[in-house]
Amino acid sequence: MCDKCKEKFFITTPMYYPSSRLHIGHAYCTVAADVMARYQRMRGADVIFLTGTDEHGQKIESRARECGVSPKQFVDGIVEGPKGVKDLWKLMNISYDRYVRTTDDFHVATVQKVFKAMYDKGDIYKGYYEGLYCTPCEAFWTESQLVDGKCPDCGREVQPAKEEAYFFRLSKYADRVQALLETPGWLEPASRVNEMINNFIKPGLSDLCVSRTSFTWGIPVDFDPGHVVYVWVDALFSYASALGFQNDAFREYERYWPANVHFVGKEIVRFHSIIWPALLMSMEMPLPKHIYGHGWLNFNGDKMSKSKGNVVDPYLLAERYGVDALRFFMLRTFPFGADGNFTNESLISCINVDLANDLGNLVSRTVAMVGKYFGGQLPLEQQEDAAKDDELITMACDLVHVYEEQMEKFAFQNALGEIFKVISRANKYIDENEPWKLAKAEADKPRLARVLYNLLETVRICGGLLRPFMPDTAAEIMKRIGAAEHDWESLAFFGTLYRDAKVENGPALFPRIDAAAELAALEALQTAEAAPACDCGDRKEAEDKAQSTPEGNAADVPLPEPLPEIAFDDFQKVEMTVVKVLACENVKKSEKLLKFQLDDGTGTPRQILSGIAKYYKPDDLIGKTLVAVTNLAPRKMMGQLSCGMLLSAERGDKLHLLILDDAIPAGSRLC
Ligand code: MSP
Repeated sequence: MCDKCKEKFFITTPMYYPSSRLHIGHAYCTVAADVMARYQRMRGADVIFLTGTDEHGQKIESRARECGVSPKQFVDGIVEGPKGVKDLWKLMNISYDRYVRTTDDFHVATVQKVFKAMYDKGDIYKGYYEGLYCTPCEAFWTESQLVDGKCPDCGREVQPAKEEAYFFRLSKYADRVQALLETPGWLEPASRVNEMINNFIKPGLSDLCVSRTSFTWGIPVDFDPGHVVYVWVDALFSYASALGFQNDAFREYERYWPANVHFVGKEIVRFHSIIWPALLMSMEMPLPKHIYGHGWLNFNGDKMSKSKGNVVDPYLLAERYGVDALRFFMLRTFPFGADGNFTNESLISCINVDLANDLGNLVSRTVAMVGKYFGGQLPLEQQEDAAKDDELITMACDLVHVYEEQMEKFAFQNALGEIFKVISRANKYIDENEPWKLAKAEADKPRLARVLYNLLETVRICGGLLRPFMPDTAAEIMKRIGAAEHDWESLAFFGTLYRDAKVENGPALFPRIDAAAELAALEALQTAEAAPACDCGDRKEAEDKAQSTPEGNAADVPLPEPLPEIAFDDFQKVEMTVVKVLACENVKKSEKLLKFQLDDGTGTPRQILSGIAKYYKPDDLIGKTLVAVTNLAPRKMMGQLSCGMLLSAERGDKLHLLILDDAIPAGSRLC
C-alpha cells in the first residue's frame, strides 16, 4: 500500500521537564506510547510518534542558577548528556520518530506566531494578574482550587503574584470544551471526565494568564518583549510545531494533524483536556481525537520523587533484567488508567512467573522437543489436527482479534492478559499430549509432528503479538522457531509457518531469578542509588561540590613529619576495602561525627562513625564510593559502635575523603 493510502496515526507523550533526571515513572508513559506506535506500525499504519522536552520556565531557570550554569547549558546536560533523556529513550528502546525541544528555533517561531494570531483575533488580551502561583508546577490557582491552602497538584506552598500579563479568553470556550469532554471516548479513562467537569468546568472557567514578566527563561512575546509566554502554552504547541505548523522545519502538519491520541499523566489531564482544546479552538485547528490520562507509578506505595529519594532508576533495572522485561512488567502489571504500585517483589515475580515460567518454558520446551525428536526440523508429513487440538487452535486464531480490541482501547494489561491465556493453554496442551510418550513409537511420529507444529504456530502468533511490548524478545522467538519476518495478516492465520521450518536452540529467554537473594541485592543498590546527584548534567561539578571544603590555600601548610619505616608485612595487615555509602547522617549532639551505613560487599551494611561533619554534608556523600579500613577493632563513639575507619587526606584545615570511581564494586580490596 502506498504511504498516502495508509491510515495515519499521530501519537505523543508529554514533553518532559528536564529539571531533574527522569525515572521509571516517566518511562511508563513513553514505553506505553512506544508500544502503541509499534502496534500501529505493525498493523500497517503510517505512524508519527512524537516526544520531547519542555525546557522553559522559572523552575528550570532556578535549577540552572543553583548549578551555576546557564538555563540552556542546564537543559542540554539533562536532555543530551550521559544518562540524559535521549539516552534513557535509547535504553528503553523507544522508537520515536521526532523529538522536539521547546528551545528549538522552529518551535520558538511557531509559538510566537500562534501567540500573535490569538492576540490579533482578540482571544489574548493584556491585563493584570493577581493570584496564587505554584512555581514547581508552573501553574496559577485560585483560592478555591487550593487544597489545605496548598497547590492541589503537588501539595507545595503557593505564592501570591501580581504582574502585568496577557490573558487567554478561556471562558469564551467553556461550553464547547464541556461538550467535548462529554463526547464519549474523547477523554479516557471515563472517570477523568467527571473530575474535569466537576472540578474545573462547573466552578466556572476563568481566563488564563498566558505570559510572565518575573523571569526571562521563556519564549519572548515578540510584540511585547518584557513578557515570556506561559510555559504550558509554549509546551502544548510543541505538538504542532514538531510537524511544521507555522514553521519551515517540517512539512507534516497536513499529513498527520490532529493527534490520534495524546498520552498524559493524570495530573496534566486538565491542561490537555481543557486548555489545549480551547487554544486549538481559538486557532481553528482540528482537535485531537483522544486524550488518555494514565495513572502514576508509585514506589512502595509512595509517589516517586527525587526529594523523597525513592525514584527507581531504569538503568539499574534494565542492566539486571533487560529492557524487554522492564517494558513488559510495567504494562502487564498495572492497568494503564489507574495508579500502580511498583515494588521490587512484583517486578521479580512478574519476570519469574510470566516470562521465565510461562513464556520462556513454552518456547524452550517446544524448540527443544523439535530438536530432540526431529533433529530441529519437523517432517512435512504430519497427521491432520485431532479434535483435541481445536481449543488451542481456536484460541490462537482468535487471539489477534481480542488483542486488537484491547489495544484499540489502550488496555495494554488486558491485551497482554489475552496473550498469556493462550500461552497457558499451550503449556497445558503439552501436558495433555505428552509428546515424550508419542516419541517412543514410530507410528506416533506423524501425530507428534502435528502437536509440535501446533505449538510452534502458537508460539509464532503469541511472539508476533508480543513484538510491540518486547521487540528484541519477539525477534529472538521468531529466530528460535525458524519463522520469517511476519506481517500483521499472518498473525490471524494458523498454519502459515513452514511445516519444515528449522528451529534453533538457545539459552533461556528469561532465566529464573532467585527472588530472596535478588531482593536483598536490589534494595541495597537502590538505597545507594537514591543519592541526590547534581542535575546540571555535569558530574564533575557534583563531585567538586561533594569535596568542597572551607576556603584557604592548603599548600601554605607545612608538610607533616615523616613516619618511621614499616615492613611490607605490616602494611599488608591493614584491610582496606571499597565501600559505597548507603546512608549518612549527623550524629545527634555531636558537631564532629557523621554516621555512615556502608555497603562493603558482604551484604550486611557496615556502620562507621567519622569525624568529618564540618567538611561534608551527609546528603552529598550518599552513593559515593569510598575506602574504609575494615579490620580495625570496633569502638564506641558517643555511645554508638564504629566498625572501621574511612580514609581521607588531611592538610591544614582541609580534609578530602578518598572518593573512588563509581565503577569499582563494593567489597574490592585495595592492594
Ligand atoms: N512538561 C509537562 C508536560 C507538558 S506536555 C505539553 C510535564 N512534565 S513532567 O516531566 O513533569 O511530567 C511528564 C509526565 O511524566 C507527566 O505525564 C507525568 O504524569 C509523568 N510522570 C511523572 N512521574 C510519574 C510517575 N511516577 N508515574 C507515571 N507517570 C509520571 O508535566
